[in-house]
Amino acid sequence: MPSERSLILFKPDAVERRLCGKLLSRIEDKGLNIVGLKLIKVTPDLAKQHYAEHVEKPFYPDLESFITSGPVVALVVEGPEAITVMRTLMGKTNGRESAPGTIRGDFGVSRQMNLIHGSDGPEAATREISIYFTEAELIPHEPTLTNWMTAADER
Ligand code: RTP
Ligand code: MG
Repeated sequence: MPSERSLILFKPDAVERRLCGKLLSRIEDKGLNIVGLKLIKVTPDLAKQHYAEHVEKPFYPDLESFITSGPVVALVVEGPEAITVMRTLMGKTNGRESAPGTIRGDFGVSRQMNLIHGSDGPEAATREISIYFTEAELIPHEPTLTNWMTAADER
């Protein structure tokens, strides 16, 4: 089972609401590894690059002003099927519809202010990681706990 990487953002609402610790705990508790982590300010140019698929949509101006409105925590997480695992952990886009137990389901009621971003597929992950991180900023490592968290054929 191939290990995957996903680009995660704790959006400005998560930082403003002091939820970063809780969100990070969810990721650590689940068993994914953090290989990149930093606090950044998303510029309008960066937002357009990241959300290229949404730039022409009617909600894009609101999305851009939201994502550029305050600091954002950017992470790269790694693990077996990390992209899907993170999307499941995050829950549906709209916090009103996301299931209890998911991040969006537990912490919000908004479609836009939904706390967290996660890449939605392998191509998006590769593209987004290269937008937010240089290779030198990523620190792959093998925690000793790995042998207790996954079987050999899952790594
Ligand atoms: P994300 O890209 O941030 O991980 O979220 P997602 O895949 O669950 O949702 P996506 O469809 O990619 O939308 C990107 C972000 O745009 C905002 N949004 N607003 N007003 C609207 O109709 C609307 N739809 C989406 C949300 O912040 C969403 O996360
Ligand atoms: Mg998306």
